[in-house]
Amino acid sequence: VICELLGVPELDRAAFREMSTETVAPTSAESEYDAFVRLAAYLGELIEDKRCSPPADDLLSALIRSADDDGDRLSPDELRGMAFILLIAGHETTVNLISNAVRTLLAHPGQLAEVRADMSLVDAVVEETLRYEGPVENATFRFAAEPLVIAGTPIEAGDSVLVGLAAADRDDSRCPAADRFDIHRDTRGHLAFGHGIHYCLGAPLARLEARVALRTLLDRCPDLALDGPPGPWLPGMLIRGVRSLPVRW
Ligand code: HEM
Repeated sequence: VICELLGVPELDRAAFREMSTETVAPTSAESEYDAFVRLAAYLGELIEDKRCSPPADDLLSALIRSADDDGDRLSPDELRGMAFILLIAGHETTVNLISNAVRTLLAHPGQLAEVRADMSLVDAVVEETLRYEGPVENATFRFAAEPLVIAGTPIEAGDSVLVGLAAADRDDSRCPAADRFDIHRDTRGHLAFGHGIHYCLGAPLARLEARVALRTLLDRCPDLALDGPPGPWLPGMLIRGVRSLPVRW
């Protein structure tokens, strides 16, 4: 969906997926660096290609053509940065939300049966998966503008602060029995999409994609079941998800 929105050609999508996964969940430091370089080069070429082509109806083409009131345009570097964040933020996150929801449902057959009997519960599955197994583990770095104390820990001005979203969403004092997956709980206020000024730009799109994907999958595969143990958890501190999820139907 995000490739479609930005205008990544169909033929490039498999290669894009491989580079994108490698940058957020690298198999080694060298391959991570290599994937970053390849992705940056790919996006640079894609932008150049769109710049020289007749205007297309995608977001990247619109960003290339957009200018503010003073005629100021995004520089090639700014465009590349924008494409990079949208592709990564919009791709790995939603892919892992969908697989985390499937994995968690298959591990809770009682709740899976309830959802199959009443598909309107799919929205609740998406929200509870965001809370219980949200695909983004930590927010991006913040820096203290002034000295402060958080939960007894003094923080100097300029110090970096990394907010653990996944830990906050398993806090029993906010969410009773937080380690239990329960599609009937009140999930309002979860932090899976962050909070405040940097709240996720793509939250409505991510929710929509996950709801459509889950509903369609459950509908088309009435006998969906695990076909062996799920692959290992992705490495790194950013994305929560498994490398593979073998299923049969
Ligand atoms: C389940 C899917 C997703 C999750 C869990 C998620 C999570 C997040 C989180 C936690 C942040 C805040 C980071 C921080 O405060 O440091 C964020 C920001 C952002 N997200 Fe998402 N995201 C998802 C899907 C998407 C999609 C589909 C898009 C694009 C269409 C997107 C684009 C962005 C962008 C551009 C930002 C930065 C916003 C800013 O800094 O103002 N995300 N996301």
